[in-house]
Amino acid sequence: MPGLLERYRPYLPVTDRTPPLSLHEGSTPLIPAPKLSEALGCELHLKYEGLNPTGSFKDRGMVMAVAKAVEDGADTVICASTGNTSAAAAAYAARAGLKCIVLIPDGNIALGKLAQAMAYGARIVAVQGNFDEALHLVREISAAHPIALVNSVNPHRLQGQKTAAFEIVDDLGEAPDILAIPVGNAGNISAYWMGFREYRSAGKMPGLPRMWGIQAAGAAPLARGVDRVEHPETIATAIRIGAPASAHLARAAVQESGGLFDLVTDDEIMAAYHRIAGEGVFCEPASAAPVAGLLKLHAAGQLKPGQRIVAVLTGNGLKDPQSALRSVAAPVAVPARMDAVLESIL
Ligand code: F0G
Repeated sequence: MPGLLERYRPYLPVTDRTPPLSLHEGSTPLIPAPKLSEALGCELHLKYEGLNPTGSFKDRGMVMAVAKAVEDGADTVICASTGNTSAAAAAYAARAGLKCIVLIPDGNIALGKLAQAMAYGARIVAVQGNFDEALHLVREISAAHPIALVNSVNPHRLQGQKTAAFEIVDDLGEAPDILAIPVGNAGNISAYWMGFREYRSAGKMPGLPRMWGIQAAGAAPLARGVDRVEHPETIATAIRIGAPASAHLARAAVQESGGLFDLVTDDEIMAAYHRIAGEGVFCEPASAAPVAGLLKLHAAGQLKPGQRIVAVLTGNGLKDPQSALRSVAAPVAVPARMDAVLESIL
């Protein structure tokens, strides 16, 4: 498959002057989850965004945003990030020959994401504050300096990210009944909703899904119906966000689709994380939130049987090895002798 700018060109703001930037992002698999489907009494598919070039869905939006930055003559891009955006920005900036500056919340970014931004050569500033504070800073910097902002408040990001909705419809032949998705800064749920609506207008399918946005309990302003959570906290550092920049778009998506917001605890997230791994699919903790939400809502009798559901697994499990290692017993070391090995396995 070609990259997204080529695959979905008619639906994207690609012009003759847009460079053909690509790391062959997108075209990720929609993997059936038979065990979870049985538990939910539904047909669950996992949209495994962890198979993008930098391991998260951010590549979809970043290829578009960086291509447009090049088209507009920028030589530097900047973003605030809980980790995945910075990895994607650094990769596409490297590919396009731009400089990249990223602000990350000091001490609250998963190891793999930090390693990626470093390897791709970004200038990394660890801010002693949270994501919301870092986003505020980069917005001011890009307003005052000739540096392109590539956070999802940049509309090109959502344009690129909406292509995931197209792929789901292309794979299923129609929209699912429910699209369950983790919500942090609220760009992705908004992008999916835009994508589903555009594809329906293009005559690709008759129906639209209900949008179910799931937040971590310690960082759940939308699920709680408040504007901001002052000190967001969750093991799912990707969505450790208290004041989502696209809250208004996300609320509209949920309202227009007849969907819902809900929240899940860190324990529920990690339980879902292991059940997803039990299907042979490894995602990062934030990505397990929608499955945790589905299990919770099913237990509360709010899931109609037989529905077709897609849960978006936004990031690869390898992004956050520490969460994996902390959540299971460490392997036991034994001497390199047959009797010792057999004793430990039989
Ligand atoms: N899942 C993962 C793995 C993420 O990295 C993010 C956001 C989300 C879900 C939530 O998506 O913000 O569009 O609602 N990560 C951003 C970042 C904030 O900086 O990488 P959202």
